[in-house]
Amino acid sequence: MKKNSSEFLTVAIEAALQAGDLLRKGFGTSFEITSKPGRHNLVTEYDKLAESCIFSCLLKRFPTHGFIGEEQGQTKKGDVVWIVDPLDGTVNFAHGIPLFAVSIAAVAENQVIAACIYQPMTQELFWAEKDKGAFLNGAGLRVTTTSSLDEAMLATGFPYNVHEDPLHCIETFAKMTRKGIPMRRFGSAAIDLAYVAAGRFDAYWEVSLQPWDFAGGKLLVEEAGGKISQYDGSPCDPFKASTVLATNRLLHPVLQKEIQ
Ligand code: IPD
Ligand code: CA
Ligand code: CA
Repeated sequence: MKKNSSEFLTVAIEAALQAGDLLRKGFGTSFEITSKPGRHNLVTEYDKLAESCIFSCLLKRFPTHGFIGEEQGQTKKGDVVWIVDPLDGTVNFAHGIPLFAVSIAAVAENQVIAACIYQPMTQELFWAEKDKGAFLNGAGLRVTTTSSLDEAMLATGFPYNVHEDPLHCIETFAKMTRKGIPMRRFGSAAIDLAYVAAGRFDAYWEVSLQPWDFAGGKLLVEEAGGKISQYDGSPCDPFKASTVLATNRLLHPVLQKEIQ
C-alpha cells in the first residue's frame, strides 16, 4: 500500500509545533519533576503534557495508526506507527537550559518515511520525507564534506547509566578529546542528529539510544546525505534500542574504528 508521507509530515509538523508551544510556555516555570529508573533520569509534567498533545493530534487524524511514545508506553499496532519523543533533553529542560526538542517519526514497513524535530526555543523546525530531502525551516539540508577527523566537529551523548561506562563510552570520549578534536555533549540526541543533518556537526554517536531518541533523526541524516548505523555498521532498527553512529558518510569508516 502506498503511504502518503506528505500528509503524515504535515500532521507531524502541526503536532510538533503545538507541543513545542506548550514546552516553550512551560520552560523556566515551576513544574513537577520526578525520577524514572536510572540515575538522573528525570521526567517533568511537561514531558507528559507534550506527549498527550502529540498523541491526540496524530491519532485524531490517523485513528488506525500505532503509537510509541516515551512516556505512555508502547502500543505498536497499525501499518503506520508513530515513534515520538515529546521532550528530548528533559534534564536540560528541568535545569532551565534551553536545549531540548520534540521528535516525531512515522514508520511504515520498518522504514521511517516522514519525520520532524522541533527545537521550541530557537523555533527551528527540521523535517524530512523519504526520498524527498531534509529541510530546516524550508531550506534544504546537506551534511558536511569534512573527510579528516582532525578537521571534524563531533558530538556525543551519554546514557543514564554512564557511570557504568558501557562500551567504554567515557574512554572513547577521553580519547577523542585527547586528540584535540572539538566535541560537544548537548544532552539531546534529537538535536545532535538534526545538527549532523544540518552540517553543524560532522558526526555524532551514542552507546545506547531508544527508538524515540533516534527515529526522527535517522531520516533527517539519511535525507541530508549522511549515514546512520549501529557501531558495527549494521542498520539501526527504528523499533529497537541500539548503538548509534551518525556521520556525513565520509567519516563513517574512521569513526567506526575509533568508537568500537
Ligand atoms: C536523552 C537525551 C540525551 C541522551 C540520552 C537520552 P531524554 O533523552 O537524548 O541526550 O544522552 O541517552 O535518553 O531522556 O532527555 O528524552
Ligand atoms: Ca530522548
Ligand atoms: Ca524524552
